[in-house]
Amino acid sequence: MTANRGFVPATTDYLTLGVHSLDHFGLEVPDLEPAKRFYAAFGLDVASHGSALALRTFGGDHRWGTLVEGKRKRLHHLSFGCYTDDFAKLRERAEANGVELVDPPPGFESNGFWLRDPTGLLVEVKVAPKTSPNHKTPGTFISSPEGVAGAPVRSKAPRVQPRRLSHVLVFTTNLGRAVDFYARNLGLRLSDDSEVVAFMHAVHGSDHHILAFAQSSACGMHHCSWDTQSIDDIGLGAMAMAGKGYTKGWGLGRHVLGSNYFHYVRDPWGSYAEYSCDIDYIPANQQWTAGHHAPEDSFYIWGPEPPPDFVVNHEA
Ligand SMILES: [Fe+2]
Repeated sequence: MTANRGFVPATTDYLTLGVHSLDHFGLEVPDLEPAKRFYAAFGLDVASHGSALALRTFGGDHRWGTLVEGKRKRLHHLSFGCYTDDFAKLRERAEANGVELVDPPPGFESNGFWLRDPTGLLVEVKVAPKTSPNHKTPGTFISSPEGVAGAPVRSKAPRVQPRRLSHVLVFTTNLGRAVDFYARNLGLRLSDDSEVVAFMHAVHGSDHHILAFAQSSACGMHHCSWDTQSIDDIGLGAMAMAGKGYTKGWGLGRHVLGSNYFHYVRDPWGSYAEYSCDIDYIPANQQWTAGHHAPEDSFYIWGPEPPPDFVVNHEA
C-alpha cells in the first residue's frame, strides 16, 4: 500500500525543474486504416503525414498523437515538452542520474533528447510550447431556460470534438520504479496512487495526471484520454461511437483519483480512448498531497462495473 510513498515530496516551489507537458504519444499499429476510422469517429482531426497518421483536435495545430505502422499494436514512445531554459538542465540531470541517452528512433529525429524508461519505453524530452493548461479546464452544464427545450432530436445531436489530450495511462512492470524514474528525470510528481495504479502531474501546472501507470508484466498503452467540455459530450461521444460499431468500453462513470467523468471506448487493438471531463487540476504554486488509496475505494465513485478485461495488457 505504501510502496510509492516518499518518492515525490510535496513542495510549493513552482520553479522546481521538470517538464511542463505531455507533448504527444507515439503508437505503432499493424494497419493505419482502422486507426484512421477509429480516431476520426472519436472526434479527432486525423491527417496522413507521409507514412504516419497525426492526431489533432479540431481548431488546434498541435499534434497530440502520431501513429506509424508496425508488426503489432505497441506503444512506440512518449514525448514531453519543457521550457527552453530547462532543456539543458534536464538533460544534465538525467545523465547525472546515470540514464543513458539514446538516438531518436528512425523517423522521429528531433532536437530533443531521448532515453528509455525502466521498461524500455522510449521517452523524448524537447523544448515545446506548454500544452498543459495553465488553469483548470472547467466542465460546463447548460441548463435550458424555462419555455425552451434543452435537448435536440437524435438526428440533430452535435458531433463531439475533444478539446485536447489530457493524459495517457501506460502499463509498467513496477509502479514504484516508474514513479521514481519519472520523478527523478522528468520532474513529474506523484498525485495519488493505489497498489495497482499511480498518477503523476507536471510541476508547472497540469491536470491531476498527465501520465498514469498500471501494474502489468510488460510495457503497453492502456488508454489516451481526451478532454471534452461536458458530461453531455461524453454521452454524445459514446453514443456516436456505438452507432459506428465501437460498442465496447466502459462508462459513463466518475473516477475518484482525478475526479473526472469518463467513458472509455475500446479501440481496434483492445486498448481505449477516453472521453473525459472536469479532471482535477494541480496549479503550479499549490501543494498537492499525494494520497495512497485502497484500490476498491479509489477506482470509480459511480458507474457500471468495468468489463472483466478492462486492464488486460494486449502488448504483454
Ligand atoms: Fe484516464
